Amino acid sequence: MSSIVFIGGGNMASCIVGGMIARGFEAEDITATAPSESSQERLKSRFGISATDDNRSAVAHADIVVLAVKPQIMRKVAMDLASALKADAVVISVAAGISINSLQLWLGNSTAIVRAMPNTPSLVLSGATGLFANELTSQSHKDSVDQIFNAVGYCCWVESEEQINAVIAVSGSGPAYFFRILEIMQAVGQELGLSEEIARNLVSQTALGAAQMAKVSDSSPAQLRQEVTSPGGTTERALSTFQQDGLEAIFRRAMTSASQRAEEMSKDFSD
Ligand SMILES: NC(=O)c1ccc[n+]([C@@H]2O[C@H](COP(=O)([O-])OP(=O)(O)OC[C@H]3O[C@@H](n4cnc5c(N)ncnc54)[C@H](OP(=O)(O)O)[C@@H]3O)[C@@H](O)[C@H]2O)c1
Repeated sequence: MSSIVFIGGGNMASCIVGGMIARGFEAEDITATAPSESSQERLKSRFGISATDDNRSAVAHADIVVLAVKPQIMRKVAMDLASALKADAVVISVAAGISINSLQLWLGNSTAIVRAMPNTPSLVLSGATGLFANELTSQSHKDSVDQIFNAVGYCCWVESEEQINAVIAVSGSGPAYFFRILEIMQAVGQELGLSEEIARNLVSQTALGAAQMAKVSDSSPAQLRQEVTSPGGTTERALSTFQQDGLEAIFRRAMTSASQRAEEMSKDFSD
């Protein structure tokens, strides 16, 4: 089994590690690093993995290194790691807005690098991850990367690095869009007279059911929507309110601005 080290053991790394452990990856093959003792203790007790604050010694024997620190500190962290990496290791960066070009400058031009854009539902094995590799990444590296992200949900290789910004706008940031919609639907359900518990359960089960239908059905989301919209009925009234109030335009602006922010970040944090 490959040895896997997460540099940064925060929210995103914990979601991937949690999913991996649930899928039967051995805790003894996984290490995560974090400067604070409290984070190290949390990682050890929650997942049974090793944790340390020493990035360089953690990666010395690692086959797979996942960079999961904030984009703002990626340069410093990557440059410090460069000379400690095993020659045949593959480095996966999950950071939004850090280009392969910058990572190659910081880690060295001979490093196999994969940009991954996962999302937090990886924790419950329902993640969605877009991947893009540099030319030094071998098929066997790609297979190892696939194993990790397939274990925690759906993953796909995109055709160009630019498409990672689209993945960020769709699925990297996507869970938050749905959480916002759940929040609103639950609040309105309560205003209409339901208890908090019932409103929450109905809303999350409805989201799950709709997503499951969209995933397994041969029909498009538009067809599925039409199938539940009787002329003159309640759903039609609600959907025409979305239409009148510009829901589609709001989503277009929001997702385009997420993608633009990812582009800005690559300029802000690159060399
Ligand atoms: N959250 C998401 O939904 C999401 C989705 C896709 C991609 N990402 C990407 O994932 C990356 C991490 O985001 P996050 O939300 O997980 O952030 P986070 O929760 O703040 O986690 C960052 C982690 O980095 C650790 N850290 C700080 N300095 C370090 C250093 N010098 N060496 C090693 N570890 C260090 C922190 O340790 P302490 O706990 O000790 O401070 C913390 O564990 C970002 O680049 C982000 O773009 C996030």
